[in-house]
Amino acid sequence: MTKTFARPIFVTRPMLPPLSEVIAGMERIYQSAIITNMGPFHQELESKLMAILGGQELVLFNNGTTALMAAIDALQLPAGSEVITTPFSFAASTHAITTQGLVPVFADLEPDHMTLDPNAVLAKITDKTSCILAVHVYGFPCDVDAFSKIQAQHNLKIIYDAAHAFGTELSGTRISAFGDASVFSFHATKLFNSIEGGCVAINTTGGGQRLRDFRNFGIRSEDHVSSVGINGKMSEIHALFGLLNLNQFRDEMAKRSIVRDIYLSELNGWNDIVVPRQKDGVKSSQQYFPIRLLRGRDYVYTTLKSYNVFTRRYFHPLISNFDCYSNLTTAGVLPVAERAGREVLCLPFYGDLADGTAQEIARLIKSIIAEAPQGAL
Ligand SMILES: Cc1ncc(COP(=O)(O)O)c(C=O)c1O
Repeated sequence: MTKTFARPIFVTRPMLPPLSEVIAGMERIYQSAIITNMGPFHQELESKLMAILGGQELVLFNNGTTALMAAIDALQLPAGSEVITTPFSFAASTHAITTQGLVPVFADLEPDHMTLDPNAVLAKITDKTSCILAVHVYGFPCDVDAFSKIQAQHNLKIIYDAAHAFGTELSGTRISAFGDASVFSFHATKLFNSIEGGCVAINTTGGGQRLRDFRNFGIRSEDHVSSVGINGKMSEIHALFGLLNLNQFRDEMAKRSIVRDIYLSELNGWNDIVVPRQKDGVKSSQQYFPIRLLRGRDYVYTTLKSYNVFTRRYFHPLISNFDCYSNLTTAGVLPVAERAGREVLCLPFYGDLADGTAQEIARLIKSIIAEAPQGAL
């Protein structure tokens, strides 16, 4: 049996820029004394991200949740209208709908990649539906073609929560080309991080202005406040970290792709383990490595902890089972999502695990399953 790891292994380890580069950047911040309010680092990061992520316009925010709220605001959906969304995501995906005064309606998932099922969405459309908010969960792209057809047929808006899909491409097309808006998160847990941060890549005319208004209290000038907004501004220090991490995220992606291959060669096809794979033609964001355990997920998750390996059961509990949503008459029955919530385990996934640790973790998982006491799985 594998020995307990000497140091805890968490599901991710944030990419940090070299300290010397941070200090040099901080010296510039101290010299200018510009620490927030869309300063030079903010502007540089925004334009570099636009070059990488695309969108007709790209607007930087202080985190992905504010960016989601801003994207919803920018589409000017009728108050109280319904947004069809996934129950299988991080809390922010749905909370952003609710805090913007709209009603979430949960639809079920397609089984292989756990993204929203377009047919399940179709079944939930009513005359109150204004928008679909779908998530490229774990970086698996949603069925964007099917959603484009639904959008055209039913005259709906589409927002993609692309928090897990930084750098994802579909047959060479950047993921932000699809839908009205795509929202990215640069939280510390994300491959590309600015400690906290996010952005919206928007494809609607005038959308960029609306996003900028929302980000800065609706203030356009000293004499003119145009609309309701909040404080969604990224500080110069966060922008500095983002800029420095832009220099190294491609290397981290390459290292993660080695870790992915190690896990795949160890785990794919192993008893009771299913490894969801990207569709052909998808360039992966290398954000997560989810596996599905057909039996005993919670046993494996708990036993791994005793070896100092901290996996995550993303996304358990389902959002539709949160106290604040479980009594929505719109929650409905979501068997595919419920099964995913019982089976998925996200394994530790970051470049440094390529040193042999990923192989040890994979072998530990196999031995935990093989040696599980009767009835434990
Ligand atoms: C799918 C998804 N949407 C939205 C968010 C919210 O982003 P942030 O933490 O930057 O606010 C996250 C995670 O952090 C996420 O995983």
